[in-house]
Amino acid sequence: MLPPAKHPHPKWLADAIFYEIYPQSFVDSNGDGIGDIPGITLKLDYIKDLGCNAIWLNPCFDSPFKDAGYDVRDYKKVASRYGTNDDLIALFDAAHRRDMHVILDLVPGHTSEEHEWFHRSCKVERNNYSDRYIWTDSWISGGDGLPFIGGESPRNGTYILNFFKCQPALNYGFAHPERSWQKPALGPDAKATCDAMVDVMRFWLSRGADGFRVDMADSLVKKDDEGKPYTIRTWQYMFARIRPAFPEAAFVSEWGRPEESMAAGFDMDFYLDWRWDGVPNGYNMLLRNVDDPLSRKGDKSYFNADSGTPISEFLDEYEPRLREAETADGNFNFITCNHDTARVAPRLSQREIALAYCTLFAMPGVPFLYYGDEIGMRYRALPGKEGGYVRTGSRTPMQWGANDASGALHVSDSAESDTRAGDVTGGSYLPADPSADAPTVAAQQADAESLWHTVRSILHVKGECDALRSGATFHAIERDRVFVFERSTHLQKLIIAVNPSRDCKALQLPDGSYRTIFSIGENEISGTSLRLGLQSFAILEAE
Ligand code: NOJ
Repeated sequence: MLPPAKHPHPKWLADAIFYEIYPQSFVDSNGDGIGDIPGITLKLDYIKDLGCNAIWLNPCFDSPFKDAGYDVRDYKKVASRYGTNDDLIALFDAAHRRDMHVILDLVPGHTSEEHEWFHRSCKVERNNYSDRYIWTDSWISGGDGLPFIGGESPRNGTYILNFFKCQPALNYGFAHPERSWQKPALGPDAKATCDAMVDVMRFWLSRGADGFRVDMADSLVKKDDEGKPYTIRTWQYMFARIRPAFPEAAFVSEWGRPEESMAAGFDMDFYLDWRWDGVPNGYNMLLRNVDDPLSRKGDKSYFNADSGTPISEFLDEYEPRLREAETADGNFNFITCNHDTARVAPRLSQREIALAYCTLFAMPGVPFLYYGDEIGMRYRALPGKEGGYVRTGSRTPMQWGANDASGALHVSDSAESDTRAGDVTGGSYLPADPSADAPTVAAQQADAESLWHTVRSILHVKGECDALRSGATFHAIERDRVFVFERSTHLQKLIIAVNPSRDCKALQLPDGSYRTIFSIGENEISGTSLRLGLQSFAILEAE
C-alpha cells in the first residue's frame, strides 16, 4: 500500500456536523413543485439551530436527470430547476455568514451521455475529446469484461459505462492496459481527464464551495489492482493540483476503505450501508440488518430492541476500519441514512431511532444527518423516479408541516432565513407521506418529547464536548448487548452507554466519578455503578 498522502486536514472538520440535502425535495421556494437552492438558503437558520454546521448538497448541476443528477450534463451550471449559479453562490455566502460550510457533490467517474464532452467524443473525426471516455476500437468490440454500449454513435467503437446506460465512463485509464484501445492510468489521456476534473473543482471552490463529496471515488482507473494503487495515484495527482490553492477545502469519498481513500488524499470516507454479495458490513448490522426495509421480520439490527444482537458484531468489522482512518489521521464517517439507503422508519420505532442516532453522533468521525431523519421521516414503497428505483422511497419531500400544501413562499417575502417549520413546503417532486400520523417538523418542534428535540439536544451536546469532536479517541468497554465506550481528549473524558434492549442492565464503570450530561431513559449512577434503564442512552463525563 502507498503511504498516506500528507496534507493538513481543513480545521473546520474537527467539529463539523453535516446535514445532507437532496435539493429536489427540501424546500420549494417558488411553488413550481420542486425544491430549489433559494429554498435551502431560506432554511440555513433551521439547519444551524438543529445543530448542524455544514451541508452536503446532492448534485445540483444541469442534467437530464436519468440518475437524479448523478448524470451531469454541465458541471459548471446549476440545473435551472434548482436556480442559477448566482443562487448557489448566494447560498455559499449566506452559509459562511453563519459560520457554516457547504460541500457539493462531484461526480468524476462519468458524465451524462448528453454532456458536450461526450457528444464530441462520439465524432468520427479525431478531436480533443476523442479519448475523454473509454472507447474500444471497433463497433463490434466487447468491453473486455466491462459494461459497454455499441450502435449509438457514428464513431467506429463501443464505449464503456460506469453505472447506468446514461453514464459513459470518463477515461482515467487502465492499471494494466492489455488491449490496443486501453490507455494507461496517468498516461497523457488519463491526465487530461484529471486536469478537466481539477478545473471543475477549481470552478466551484473559487466561487465559495467548501469542498466535495466525491461519487464512486474508487472507480476511476479500470481493472485496478487489489488496494486500488492506480486510482490512489490518480487522486494524488489531482489533489496535488488543487490542495495548495484551497487548503481548507474538504473532500469526502464514497469509497468505504479508509486505508485506501486516505492514501489517495481524502480527508474523510463514509461507512455506508453496503452488503456486497449479501454479506452485511458493520454499519449495516447497526441499523439495517434486514432484507425488507419495511418489515421487522428477521431484523437482526443492533438497535432493534428485540434483535438480541450484540454490538461486537458491528465492532469486529468497524474497529479495523476506524484504526485505518486513525493511522492516516483521517475520518471514517457515519450517516443516519442517505439518498441511496432506506430510511429506518417505520421499521424502527422513534425510541430505537433516537438511541441509534445519539450513538452515531457520539462516535468518532464527522456525522452526516440526512434531511428528514431528524423527525423520523419514513421510507415509502414508491415507484421509481429519475433512476431512483428502490431508493425513491427515501427521497420524498421534506415534511415541514403546517403549511406543507400551501404553495410557494418567495424568498423575498421573508427574512433571509428562518428556524420555523410551518412557512415552507418540500414541494411535490414525489408524493409526501399521506399518513395521518406522518411526522412533521412543525408538530415535533411543538412536542418536547419528539425525535426532533432529541436530535437537536444531542447535536448541541456534541457541539459543546471536546471529547465528541471528530478526532477524539474511541475505546470500547462493553461489547455485548449493552455497548459502552469511552471518548477522550486531553481536555475531557466521556463514557457513553447504550442499552437498546427491553431489560434494565447494571454495570460497573472504570474507577472515577461521573456526572450525567445527557440521558434518555431511566438511568441511575451511583459511584461507579450504572444502572441503565430499558432502551436507554447516557453520556457521562468523568470528573
Ligand atoms: C453513487 C450515488 O450516491 C448514487 O446515487 C448514484 O446513482 C451512483 N453513485 C452513480 O453516480
